[in-house]
Amino acid sequence: GKRFLTLGIESSCDDTALAVLEGGHGLLAEVISSQIDSHSVYGGVVPELASRMHQEAILPLLESVLAKAGIGEPAKELSLIAVTSGPGLMGSLLVGVMTAKALSQGWGVPLIGVNHLEGHIFANAAVSEELKPPFISLIVSGGHTEVVLVRAFGDYELLGSTRDDAAGEAYDKVSKVLGLGYPGGPIIDRLAADGDPNAFQLPLPLASTKEIEFSFSGLKTAAMTLIGKETALGEEFPLADLCASFQKAVVDSLMGKIKLAVKRTGVKRLTVSGGVAANSGLRAALAEYSRDRGVELFLPPRGMCTDNAVMIAAAGYSSYMRGNRSDLHLSPNPSWSI
Ligand code: KG4
Ligand code: ZN
Repeated sequence: GKRFLTLGIESSCDDTALAVLEGGHGLLAEVISSQIDSHSVYGGVVPELASRMHQEAILPLLESVLAKAGIGEPAKELSLIAVTSGPGLMGSLLVGVMTAKALSQGWGVPLIGVNHLEGHIFANAAVSEELKPPFISLIVSGGHTEVVLVRAFGDYELLGSTRDDAAGEAYDKVSKVLGLGYPGGPIIDRLAADGDPNAFQLPLPLASTKEIEFSFSGLKTAAMTLIGKETALGEEFPLADLCASFQKAVVDSLMGKIKLAVKRTGVKRLTVSGGVAANSGLRAALAEYSRDRGVELFLPPRGMCTDNAVMIAAAGYSSYMRGNRSDLHLSPNPSWSI
């Protein structure tokens, strides 16, 4: 029979990404255009700029991903168009959603709107066929810190999230104060490797509560206060120690709540995705925990941790197979929760 090919489109934040997936796992082609260099001078994503850049990038990327996948007649060869329709930045989401609707209409190919967080949950499933529910999914990025129980694909329970800042956001803000650049996560992660994580004691917000809930705003403020103090001392600035201590606090906070989620649900299978899933401290802590406690751990490769269209195509394919459909009324929902 005909191959089932899904075109995935992701434009919710600052990456324009497209992919063609065969079935739920077979990656045919993937392209991605990052706007990081354009936003880094501002220390964060500028929504209007992001929207304009998606608009410029999306059609050339479409041509390129179809060519790479060897698709000459998309109207005949594609079976589905899956697009991120929320959560995210309105102006960014609009570019992907409008493009997907136009293509769906023009080519006569079915359309499915995908929740970006469900996409992140599929980052692992798209590359590991053996990952089957139930599992616990930690989504940690610049915009999200969520712990989700995946009972089945399509059946999700949000176990907990952040009260304020996302984990990646805390990294980015501390990095900005340190004058290190954007995105701050990878830079602080690298510097932390040469520092002493016990040099400074930073607060572990909500550590003692029995709620699966995060807070990174207080930690960020404490880190900033500490940076101010150390700068005022006028001595050699303990950059590596500060980075290592901050990273330890973030990782300890994430790990504490992950352990709570495993304990509470009894589900001993764990996946992580989102940009912060690339963090070396978090990956090491997760590996140690899973070894000690017999918890099965699925960590996606780096490229699948950050925003991409492969996970959107995989989530869209699964959703379509479960009977979900979208039509031309599909419109972006910037605050769509899972
Ligand atoms: O998933 P992503 O590409 O975009 C969204 O936010 O949706 O994640 C980007 C975030 C940024 O905040 C970045 O600083 C953080 O992930 N990040 C990291 C690392 N690599 C990326 N945070 C900590 N350690 C890293 N190695
Ligand atoms: Zn994301």
